[in-house]
Amino acid sequence: MFPFLNNNKEEIQLDEKNIPKHIAIIMDGNGRWASKRALPKKAGHKAGAQTLEKISQAAIDLGVQHLTVYAFSTENWKRSEQEIKGIMDLLREYLKNYIEQAKKDNVRVHIIGDISPLDMDIQKRILELEELTKQKTGMNLHIALNYGGRDELLRAIRKISRAVAEGKYQAEEIGEKELEQYLDTANVPDPELLIRTSGEERISNFLLWQIAYSEFCFTEKLWPDFTENDLKQAIYQYQNRERRFGGRK
Ligand code: FPP
Repeated sequence: MFPFLNNNKEEIQLDEKNIPKHIAIIMDGNGRWASKRALPKKAGHKAGAQTLEKISQAAIDLGVQHLTVYAFSTENWKRSEQEIKGIMDLLREYLKNYIEQAKKDNVRVHIIGDISPLDMDIQKRILELEELTKQKTGMNLHIALNYGGRDELLRAIRKISRAVAEGKYQAEEIGEKELEQYLDTANVPDPELLIRTSGEERISNFLLWQIAYSEFCFTEKLWPDFTENDLKQAIYQYQNRERRFGGRK
């Protein structure tokens, strides 16, 4: 039983048999949350990291198999040095502290994006967290770091071009399934539901290939204010959409 409250404070149940296997989240609004409180941006990101822990737990409880969150985009380098350092410091702390939690919750952590420009100690912590959780059989938490959908596609195209040059494929043999094997999300099903917080209604270069048929749910809530109940409301919206995948009912 997965009860939640709708906007009229009525208790509603989610359909337990129709929980999305994969939910993607653009965790937006940390900066505005901090500004509203006259706090530095880092305080907003810190509150955002705490919300991420709460929402991961809620997703585990709902039986979600894959949760993909946008933590740092290829475009976020345009922010001030101070804000980037704030996010990177939080990330260091999160990666270190999350090891025990992931073990306890049986979560497998996987990073998507190009981590090579990140500081070496962060890269090491990422590999360590991935290694230490790779046998876990519960939820898969995919954290997008220095991730951009276009960058992911370019990296995949470069790799597949090399494979063609080495004679592994004929160009004509490359179909969707072959290309998907070169994406950061190889072997992960596409998200059925994509949530973006903070009232912005755009994709911002997130999972461009994978969201071809995802349902979108935009909410006004700023990410640090997003709750388990909000997650259930988004899933309820998803459960009441008609998905046709380009066909007819
Ligand atoms: C968007 O809010 C959020 C980010 C660019 C960073 C997301 C980071 C976290 C949730 C915390 C760090 C993550 C980990 C895994 C430790 P924004 O700053 O763009 O908000 P704004 O649009 O209101 O300024």
